[in-house]
Amino acid sequence: MKHTDFLVIGSGIAGLSFALKASKYGSVCLVTKDVVQETSTRYAQGGIAAVMYHPDTYEKHIEDTMIAGHELSDPEIVRITITESTDRVKDLIDWGVDFDKNPSGKYDLAREGGHSEFRVLHHKDITGLEIQKKLYEKAKNEANIKILEKYFAVEIITQHHLGISITKHSTDIDCYGAYILNPHTNKIDTILAKTTILATGGIGNVYSNTTNPAVSTGDGIAMVHRAKGVIRGMEFVQFHPTTLYNPSERPSFLITEALRGEGAILKDFHGNSFMEKYDPRGSLAPRDIVARAIDHELKISGEKHVYLDAKKINKTVFFNHFPTIYSKCLSVGIDATKDLIPVVPAAHYSCGGILTDPWGCTNIRNLYALGECASTGLHGANRLASNSLLESLVFSHRACEHASQKINSIDFIEGIKDWNAEGTISNEEKILITESTRELQSIMSYYVGIVRSDLRLERALKRINIIYQETETLYQQSIITQQICELRNMICTAYLIIKEAMKRKESLGLHYSIDYPPKTD
Ligand code: FAD
Ligand code: SIN
Repeated sequence: MKHTDFLVIGSGIAGLSFALKASKYGSVCLVTKDVVQETSTRYAQGGIAAVMYHPDTYEKHIEDTMIAGHELSDPEIVRITITESTDRVKDLIDWGVDFDKNPSGKYDLAREGGHSEFRVLHHKDITGLEIQKKLYEKAKNEANIKILEKYFAVEIITQHHLGISITKHSTDIDCYGAYILNPHTNKIDTILAKTTILATGGIGNVYSNTTNPAVSTGDGIAMVHRAKGVIRGMEFVQFHPTTLYNPSERPSFLITEALRGEGAILKDFHGNSFMEKYDPRGSLAPRDIVARAIDHELKISGEKHVYLDAKKINKTVFFNHFPTIYSKCLSVGIDATKDLIPVVPAAHYSCGGILTDPWGCTNIRNLYALGECASTGLHGANRLASNSLLESLVFSHRACEHASQKINSIDFIEGIKDWNAEGTISNEEKILITESTRELQSIMSYYVGIVRSDLRLERALKRINIIYQETETLYQQSIITQQICELRNMICTAYLIIKEAMKRKESLGLHYSIDYPPKTD
């Protein structure tokens, strides 16, 4: 049994930035299920939205965020996030993150869909990699931070593990740490913590096509759901409109929206610009609108992709700002300065997640949720581009302020039993897991994608229930592996998306149903 003041699960921007701040107040144990660098954060291209210079103002960024979120965002959370943006970007700069500057020495700000101003700080088109590298360099040199790579969090520990019954109506659930699969022994370690932080990222892998790396399987959300914590907003899954059409590639390679901010235009199979038919903001309309428009174009044309025309972008700007996109396209035979880029939407971001308050606290005591796995209230029914790296930083900072004040008054729990693996056997048939995963992804993509209906959701639920029953039986009998836990977590996440989508009897933002509003005669 191990003990730590802060147990951080996840090594993306949320986990690392929290760990760096918390290490001033106590011992930090950071566990991550792959190598530290394998996160969604690492793949972020466009950058981080923040108010830096006139003519931009906090009020404009707040308004853009509320409009993109279809007014479902929590106004208090939006104000907190935006007004703290400048300070949190300064933290990144202090940690060594190098944002591009223009010749006058000011930060070079890009623009993306739904933004009324240029306000996205970036490091070429690999902003996430720059952030991930600099935060990791800092964290690995902090004496108070211990990093456990390839350790997999299986469950958070609550009163349930003391034999006390808890239900979703319990108001006094406590978190005492987590059970973690140790890759060296293949056994489950018990890590007790005064404070536990879930920073487990997104859910993209419940769909067949996603921009997310393989680690994004909704683990934190599923763990909290099983522990009777509150999850909300899961129906709002954001599909990024433009990923490179290259069917054999997983994850899908993103073509940043900042390219459209520089003037790239979406075109149909005949080379005609089509976004004007759907929204006066054209190719730079918010993502829910653009992704749905592309989906519609594909359905009426029967084609497999549309195009992005970036040929008008100045070549020097292209090579300086988007070198990775340029070389990626070239590697599949497309010269993006001369050819049209084939693009399709792919699952990208979960606007919903574990419900948190303005300090990152969940409804489970001493459990915080940060980054993409959290639902702070910032995104409402649709996230404004490049607001998520910012959200991770703002709430990691606030959670650390909150947790550090309490840390000395919390005691470690006693009486927690080690994980009981009695009666389980090694599951030799990995095919059962890979096939169920593929089935789940296909169900979610066909029935719970960009466009939904009551009938499709009902079908999806029935089919997911079958996979759920089969997987639970397998799980109860098997020695625990990361693969079976991930499948279980993806099933749980899919279930939450479908259930919340079924409850929402309207089309709003990222949840679009052909049944709402109901058609009249
Ligand atoms: P992540 O960075 O995904 O980290 C999650 C961590 O949790 C990983 O270390 C993972 O291994 C770990 N983990 C998960 N489950 C477990 C478990 N059971 N046990 C142990 N460890 C676990 N947002 C922007 O604001 N601007 C952008 O330009 C932008 N571009 C993007 C481009 C791409 C291709 C993608 C995929 C996303 C992009 N986003 C962007 C979204 C943004 O990158 C993510 O929302 C953000 O990085 C999430 O950070 P995070 O720390 O919450 O999660
Ligand atoms: C992009 O660069 O288009 C992604 C930005 C984001 O997801 O916020």
